[in-house]
Amino acid sequence: MFEEVCELVIVAGRNLIENMNSRLTVETKGSDTDLVTEMDKKTEKYITEEIKRNFPEHAVFGEETVEEIGYDRMLEMLETYPNLWIIDPIDGTTNYVHGLPGYTISVALYCEGIAAYGIIYDPVAKELFIAERGKGATLNGEAIHVSKQSSLAESLVSTGVPAKYESDRNHVLEGYVKIALLARNIRTFGSAALHCAYVASGRLDAFWEWGVNIWDVAAGKLIVEEAGGSVYQLDGNEVQFEFPHFTCTNGKIDKE
Ligand code: IPD
Ligand code: CA
Ligand code: CA
Repeated sequence: MFEEVCELVIVAGRNLIENMNSRLTVETKGSDTDLVTEMDKKTEKYITEEIKRNFPEHAVFGEETVEEIGYDRMLEMLETYPNLWIIDPIDGTTNYVHGLPGYTISVALYCEGIAAYGIIYDPVAKELFIAERGKGATLNGEAIHVSKQSSLAESLVSTGVPAKYESDRNHVLEGYVKIALLARNIRTFGSAALHCAYVASGRLDAFWEWGVNIWDVAAGKLIVEEAGGSVYQLDGNEVQFEFPHFTCTNGKIDKE
């Protein structure tokens, strides 16, 4: 069943590429820096309908649906449904709008509140990162693992500049100034899901961001865990569904 969802995510990715440089209608939501296009909406609709067709008894929500149903209803769904799919149809919409690579589709299945499957697809690179709880993580079918790096000074870490709130941006920038002096360097690719996938595959050693949403990291959390990494809130607690201040690492540079 998981393979079918991977297939439809790949189809959705192809469709994103075909429409990438078309005249997109770009709107903002909530803040001038939080963008949405018709391709976000179309992709979410397509994946939602296909999942519902394949699993009529499962519930589904995605970022753009939450815009309609509201955040409280989303939290209620997270508590209520035993099988719940969480979609980010384009993670990295700003990249997509600017004709840049580095956007992804993120899809996860949560069973009783625990991640069971995670898919992150980068359609430009044709890279499919997947994980199934207890069965490890793969990139295009090959097993992946977090890096073995144990020194922050030799680590390549990443962060994101949050789309919505200035206060979250300020927190990230404060961290950036500190970490930039301690780590080998910092990357900001523009997709939280891609950052997670890169930590899981050992390309990056860590990722942190203030104020991501559950749909940004629902799949990434599991993929990093299954690749042997650590995932938690920035204060060290378990990741929460509501406004996760998110960190994932290779599990070896956490203390530093
Ligand atoms: C955004 C991306 C970005 C991150 C923002 C997210 P979107 O998602 O993941 O890297 O910095 O916090 O909102 O809006 O492109 O789906
Ligand atoms: Ca996102
Ligand atoms: Ca999105």
